[in-house]
Amino acid sequence: MWRRVALHSQLMLSSKPSIFNNQGACIFKFCETFKTEIATKEKPFITFVLGGPGSGKGTQCARIVETFGLTHLSAGDLLRREIASNSADGSTILSTIKEGKIVPSEITIKLLQKEMETCDSSKFLIDGFPRCEENRIAFEQIIGAEPNIVLFFDCPEEEMVKRVLNRNQGRVDDNIDTIKKRLKVFEALNRPVINYYSDKGKLYKINAVGTEDEIFKQVHPIFAVYEAIK
Ligand code: C5P
Ligand code: MG
Repeated sequence: MWRRVALHSQLMLSSKPSIFNNQGACIFKFCETFKTEIATKEKPFITFVLGGPGSGKGTQCARIVETFGLTHLSAGDLLRREIASNSADGSTILSTIKEGKIVPSEITIKLLQKEMETCDSSKFLIDGFPRCEENRIAFEQIIGAEPNIVLFFDCPEEEMVKRVLNRNQGRVDDNIDTIKKRLKVFEALNRPVINYYSDKGKLYKINAVGTEDEIFKQVHPIFAVYEAIK
């Protein structure tokens, strides 16, 4: 919702200036009205949550939501919801997920964008996204925003494999063959995204081995300093 209003306001500003009468007096102050609207519209506060399969992204997102009240958008959950709803993209998404590959960016971003535009909040915790440089660049172009914070849950491969095989959520991709493919895709495609945000000074690397509480102790101070989410 935040984005649609902002774009609409910019269009109004450029296409409809103030109207003056023939004595030079302003009889319609279009710009003033819409400038105020833009200035008061909140900029989105975006956190990306990265990490391999089973690194604990979803579990920690639930803790962040509980403590800081951000809106949690899991790219994987949105894609699974699309499969379940038998939508036009459902079969492409299902075969991609079974292969442990990455769904085309336009599909995933369309789902994220719909959630962001229809939700009252402007503070988002986007989990499992961007999965590759193409995801990242497409998000910047389509949504027109960059993340404020990027969390990376760093977990050794053997620990991730153990957790995924133990979680029993009935997912089509939680089997050893697909996990191996997902780990390869993670190393090849998600690492460059992690390095990109590290170079930009936006990356917070979390040691993802330990109890839920121990891990959340590392996460909490990162959000606690942000005035925007208090
Ligand atoms: O994040 P999660 O483990 O739920 O993702 C499951 C699968 O969904 C990924 O392995 C991938 O196939 C797909 N996915 C994607 N693009 C994203 C997030 C998830 O293609 N940004
Ligand atoms: Mg998840």
